[in-house]
Amino acid sequence: MNLRSGRLKGQMSREVADFTSSLEFDRRIFQADILTNRAHTTMLVEQEIIPGTIGKQILNALEQLEKEGIDALDLDSAVEDIHMAVENYVTSVMGPDAGFMHTAKSRNDQVATDLKIALKEEIREIQKELITFIEIILEMATENLDTLMVGYTHLQHAQPTTFAHHLLSYAQALKRDYGRLQDAYHRMDLCPLGSAALTTTSFPINRERTAELLGFSGPMENSIDGVSSRDFIAETVFALTMLGTTLSKICEELIIWSTYEFRMVELGDDFSSTSSIMPQKKNPDVAEIVRGKTAVLNGELVTILTIIKSLPQSYNRDLQEVTPHLWKATDTLSSALTITMGMLSSAKFKGERGEELARANFSAATELADLMVRDAGLPFRTAHQIVGRAVTVALDKGMKAEDIDTHFLDEISQELTGQTLNIDNAVVKKSLNPKDIIQSRKVIGGPAPSMVQEVIGNLRDFVEEN
Ligand code: ARG
Repeated sequence: MNLRSGRLKGQMSREVADFTSSLEFDRRIFQADILTNRAHTTMLVEQEIIPGTIGKQILNALEQLEKEGIDALDLDSAVEDIHMAVENYVTSVMGPDAGFMHTAKSRNDQVATDLKIALKEEIREIQKELITFIEIILEMATENLDTLMVGYTHLQHAQPTTFAHHLLSYAQALKRDYGRLQDAYHRMDLCPLGSAALTTTSFPINRERTAELLGFSGPMENSIDGVSSRDFIAETVFALTMLGTTLSKICEELIIWSTYEFRMVELGDDFSSTSSIMPQKKNPDVAEIVRGKTAVLNGELVTILTIIKSLPQSYNRDLQEVTPHLWKATDTLSSALTITMGMLSSAKFKGERGEELARANFSAATELADLMVRDAGLPFRTAHQIVGRAVTVALDKGMKAEDIDTHFLDEISQELTGQTLNIDNAVVKKSLNPKDIIQSRKVIGGPAPSMVQEVIGNLRDFVEEN
């Protein structure tokens, strides 16, 4: 049945048909379109809006199409979109009575419903991957509870921590990314079908029933909103963009940590490349590609927001242009997620180097200042000044952190405050030892192995519940 044979004279040129057709990216909603047609037809029969015998024929044709697959459809761009292609198929099987399938339905409510069905499925898949990723991180963290490393601020040595503690910072970010997808999923879980073109229909349709048949928690409560809104796409793509940002940051660290200067991590050979001219090179190309590709998500998000921002309510064909950007975002994210997960799990953290860096460059300075507050009763700001001066003098004299003792600190203190501190030397030495520093940070969220273990337990509960 040609949609244009009523109101319009003649066909679109090939050029215009190609330009306006959504068929190429509608492939992703083929399955969903069969589901919406099936649910709608079932409801129409139940409500006695169309005869049961015709309903049966429509359902049989849809079943046949499901078996034959998308290749059974005529996907010429003159057909316009997947909804017309499916309807044409059903018509080719059973004749013009197929037209009853479109009673009280528009492509406007159908495309919104199809997109939600397909996107809910995509979200579930990505969430499953995320859970696996978090599990992998928890295993790596469990094996590295005592593996020292230095933590950075401004990418400068800051304080000692452990590899487990650092890894859990990734896990927490990924958990929030999971939560954002979950929120988007729940908000989109209302069915647009039955909105029809924009004001529903005078047929006594049962929207609760179609929503139920399609696995939604209920119908959307305004039919204009039903056909206009794509915030569910913008929101999901934001969640994916944020997740892409998490992955990009993980890759950024792997790139930095695998440099000769840091030498903290050895990437798997299967996630590295070499140079065509410099034979010695081992390059973190895969991490770089993730970092580069995830930028696509930022672009897709802005494109989607820009398309929808200027549209009046109800259906406008611009909405069709949102769809390819949605699928580009989900595909980019899915591949980046799988690759980053594989890359991190095959990366070897170099514990000895981690410890060397944790002991170097006065990363224990904060703990030393804390000790002066605790054991010498100094206000923190005074302690901060004494330790700061001690580090400057030590650097001038070529001393290392382990060369600092209570005598040295007393000299500095005497000079700055006119008083000595008289802290037990063994205690000073302890406060300079990264292992002891880690053990003493038992505050919630801190790096003490006992605390990290507790957080691993909480995250394991999260993994089990999801
Ligand atoms: N292909 C369209 C889309 O993806 C759905 C069809 C609505 N078309 C129309 N002319 N009202 O949004």
